[in-house]
Amino acid sequence: MALRALVAVLPGDGIGPEVVAQARRVLEYFRDERGVPLDIWEIDLGADRYLRDGTTLPDDVRLRIATEASAVLVGAFGDPRVPDGAHARDILFGLRFGLDLYANVRPIHAMSDSLVPLKGRTARDIDIVVFRENTEGLYAGVGGQFRRGTRDEIAIEEDLNTRKGVERIVRAAFEYARAHGKTQVHMADKSNAMRHAHELWYRTFFEVAEEYPDIRAEHIYVDALCSLLVLDPGAFQVIVTCNLFGDIVTDLGAALQGGLGMAASANVHPVLHGCCEAPHPRRPVGLFEPVHGSAPSLVGMRIANPFAAMLSAGMLLGHLGWPDARDQIESAVVRALAERQCTPDVGGSLDTSAAGQWIVGALRAGAADS
Ligand code: NAD
Ligand code: IPM
Ligand code: MN
Repeated sequence: MALRALVAVLPGDGIGPEVVAQARRVLEYFRDERGVPLDIWEIDLGADRYLRDGTTLPDDVRLRIATEASAVLVGAFGDPRVPDGAHARDILFGLRFGLDLYANVRPIHAMSDSLVPLKGRTARDIDIVVFRENTEGLYAGVGGQFRRGTRDEIAIEEDLNTRKGVERIVRAAFEYARAHGKTQVHMADKSNAMRHAHELWYRTFFEVAEEYPDIRAEHIYVDALCSLLVLDPGAFQVIVTCNLFGDIVTDLGAALQGGLGMAASANVHPVLHGCCEAPHPRRPVGLFEPVHGSAPSLVGMRIANPFAAMLSAGMLLGHLGWPDARDQIESAVVRALAERQCTPDVGGSLDTSAAGQWIVGALRAGAADS
């Protein structure tokens, strides 16, 4: 019998539990009806727990995920009752950094013409994958405050960029491009303003690009990228960028594909041969989550779109070695949109649970037909 994969599920805060319940349904469907050998371990972490007993990400949970889990499914973290977001950073960054998930892979893929907000463009024009560096940059937490609370206070947030970190995310983007028949990779930076950190990005990008003569390497400043993503999104296939820019650009990207309710993501540690790291002893754990947050204003209204979380669960199944399951989930979402069997943000009138249930029904019907 195949080894069973342990999937840790962290529903989190706000609409996280609402959308994760639907994503979980999909995992359970593949487990119970299609023989995918996985076990689900749901973990109670988030604002409620933090406010109750101060727990954010306990060491034993981190250790068990690192040593036993094959994947993690996350809803979202963030709650107005924790205004500084301390628990959310501890949990999210604790996992992204702690598991060295250096590649945040965020597809910008429109699944219906009706969702594309740009005049004269169709879904075929929106098919991009962003490789966001996920363990360094302005997210590294290096810095400090001085004379806090006085009129002379100083706050410093350092932008940490290592050759190893830049090289491996750039290489991951090129490897992805090559493996998926893409012809170009864009690297977005601000090397015109950030002379130190982004000069490293610029130089490293073109050095690594020499190993991929079959793929066109294009540099673009991130401000120009934002403009062109709106004016000519079809010009982009694969984009690699730093942590902060990747965060911002992918919310813009989410808008191109129908809103935050449609944007899925994977946080992974691609094992690259010929790169700056030793081979990993086993397939590294990956963390899968919608791009959106906890959307406090939607909580309890039952209108949160579960598709981003369900598509993230699809990416998770692909990561575990079940690409057909991922493709079937994507096809079911395409059909749901075409038939308006979806939540109001994407043109339907179903509630969160009904939209999730429709997808499972479509998967079941698809399996019966084949
Ligand atoms: P958000 O993504 O939660 O919401 C932004 C907008 O998108 C809102 O208008 C919301 O209504 C809409 N939206 C988001 N998800 C949706 C869905 N599934 N269906 C329909 N509409 C949806 O961003 P925000 O308001 O800036 O952040 C809220 C909280 O979430 C903050 O605490 C933030 O730090 C946190 N956050 C967490 C994550 C994460 O855990 N990965 C990601 C982003 C934001
Ligand atoms: C995301 C979020 C997080 C980030 C926040 C909640 C820290 O916006 O996953 O896109 O900036 O990475
Ligand atoms: Mn974000």
